[in-house]
Amino acid sequence: MKVIITKNYEELSKAAANEMANIIKNNPKAILGLATGGSPIGMYKELIRMNKDGELDFSDITTVNLDEYVGLSGDHNQSYRYFMNENLFNHININKEKTFVPNGLAENIEEECKNYDAKIAELGGTDVQLLGIGNNGHIAFNEPDSSLVAGTHLTKLTQDTIEANARFFESIDMVPTTALTMGLGGIMKSKKIIVIASGAGKAEAVKEMVSGKINTNMPASMLQMHRDVVVIVDEAAAALLNK
Ligand code: PGA
Repeated sequence: MKVIITKNYEELSKAAANEMANIIKNNPKAILGLATGGSPIGMYKELIRMNKDGELDFSDITTVNLDEYVGLSGDHNQSYRYFMNENLFNHININKEKTFVPNGLAENIEEECKNYDAKIAELGGTDVQLLGIGNNGHIAFNEPDSSLVAGTHLTKLTQDTIEANARFFESIDMVPTTALTMGLGGIMKSKKIIVIASGAGKAEAVKEMVSGKINTNMPASMLQMHRDVVVIVDEAAAALLNK
C-alpha cells in the first residue's frame, strides 16, 4: 500500500482529485468506481472545478457506485443516487445513463445484485475504485463479521454504522437498516484502489487497514492483498501509523 499523508482535509481532497484526474486523462473512457459519504465531498468539488475549468472531460466516463440503502428511491434526499447527482453528476458533463448505483427499491433484491455484478463485468471491471473507511473498518457496507461476501449482496448495517450515518438523517430511526453493497470480491477486482480518510475518528481503522492482521472483522485489512492501493489520509487519520 502506498500511503500519502496530507496536512488537512482540503489537501487530501486535492490529492485524491489529482489521482482521479490522472486516471481520466490517461483513459477518457475509464470506468470509475465511486463512493458516497462525508469523505469524498471535497474531492468531488475539486473534480467539478477541474471540469468547469476545462481541465477534465467526463463525456466518455462511466461510473459504478459501491452501495445504496434499501427502501430509498433515487430522489430521496438521503439515497446514494441523490447524493451522487447532487455532489457530482449534476455539475459535470457526464452522461447520467452511464452512471450506475444499485437500485434500493428493486423488487427482486437477489436479481438486482446479480445484474449489478453482471453490469460491472460487461463494462470490463472498474479501472479505479474509490473507498472511504468506516470507524469500524468497514468498506462500502461490508461490515465487520466472521465472514465476508464476494459479490454484490444485501447486508444489515451494524449499530456503529447506523449511529455514524444518523448525522445525515432527521433522526436515527430514519436511517435504513439494510443496504445493497458491492462485496469484497467486486472491490478487489478493481485495477486500482484509492482509500481516503480524514479525522482522528478514523485513525484506529486506518492503522488496522495498513498494518493490522488481515481479518474479516476489519474488512479494510483485506486491501493489503491488493497490488495497487493508494491510501490518502490527513494527519489526524494518520496519527497511529508508524512513520
Ligand atoms: P464517511 O464514511 O466518508 O462519511 O466518513 C466512510 C464510510 O463509512 O465508508
